[in-house]
Amino acid sequence: MYARGHGIILNEPTVIALNSRTQEVLAMGHEAWQMIGRTPGYIVAVRPLRGGAITDFEITQRMIRLLFQRAGVSRLYRARVLICVPSAITHVEQRAVLEAARRAGAAQTYLIEQPMAAAIGAGLPIHEPMGNMVVDVGGGTTEVAVISLGGVVSLEAVRVGSFDVDAAIQTYVRREYGIAIGERTAEEIKLAIGSAYAVDDGYKAEVRGRDLMTGLPKTILLVPEEVRGAIEEQIRAICDAVVACLARTPPELAQDLILNGVHLVGGGGMLRGLDRRISEETDLPVHLVDAPLECVVLGAGRCLENFDSLKEMFMARSQAR
Ligand SMILES: Nc1ncnc2c1ncn2[C@@H]1O[C@H](COP(=O)(O)OP(=O)(O)OP(=O)(O)O)[C@@H](O)[C@H]1O
Ligand SMILES: [Mg+2]
Repeated sequence: MYARGHGIILNEPTVIALNSRTQEVLAMGHEAWQMIGRTPGYIVAVRPLRGGAITDFEITQRMIRLLFQRAGVSRLYRARVLICVPSAITHVEQRAVLEAARRAGAAQTYLIEQPMAAAIGAGLPIHEPMGNMVVDVGGGTTEVAVISLGGVVSLEAVRVGSFDVDAAIQTYVRREYGIAIGERTAEEIKLAIGSAYAVDDGYKAEVRGRDLMTGLPKTILLVPEEVRGAIEEQIRAICDAVVACLARTPPELAQDLILNGVHLVGGGGMLRGLDRRISEETDLPVHLVDAPLECVVLGAGRCLENFDSLKEMFMARSQAR
């Protein structure tokens, strides 16, 4: 969350912990993430925005309300809100986002496509007649966009992201070692030794899980190479999305990319060696931006700070009431 004049005011995972008996919200963000896999049966941790779309409208709305509360937004302030959404969002989903924000207290809501916000956040010359490519590897989605003259010229979006990498690691450990590990442990393995290209292979990760045969806790050692193999399918899908987007890009703009390169954003983009791997597959230079996790929100923030000059970048707005 970014507030005009204040910068980033809140930076937490989109997770919420619910009491499934009473539907009461127990925690959100970091606190809820700590609870995943560690709660009694009736407390469930949910990601209401899994895959980049609203999977649970009620909960999303409640989460937006909580976020507004934390930011001090109430109906009284008649807040103007800008929300970043995936480019591949459908009209029905756009309505759902706008409606969720309206009910949570926003006076006026605007939507901006995430790749556009990312490009603005990365400081790319989006208004020029020149090809700029942004690859955003998020948790649930990967979006690849070529932007020129302030618009998205070609787009490829796939519902594969960094959560799928975690899931692949979980599956691998279960299959190869007969050990069950949680979602959070899988993410820790990814952060510690995950890679998309053979770089820094000197480390090993000690992993604790539950032996599926004996039911007892057990420790194993994983090496980067086997993890790379385990997540190859997901990395492949991400690279294929980049290639598919390039194939759809008009030649003049594609040519610009040889000089300008590809800009990699999103938390998933920080996976070790992913830049090298995409570069190898596309024969283009790939730059990981300075703040991959914050790039989108910083771009949206810049739109708020320069509202009148950048508002033509927005894709939709709620009806004025
Ligand atoms: N250093 C890192 N290496 C690899 N992955 C990382 C790293 N840091 C964060 N991630 C992963 O990035 C993901 C979150 O990225 P991001 O915040 O860009 O996603 P999102 O914008 O919330 O998701 P989406 O764009 O799909 O809606 C998490 O799965 C996290 O594990
Ligand atoms: Mg994202």
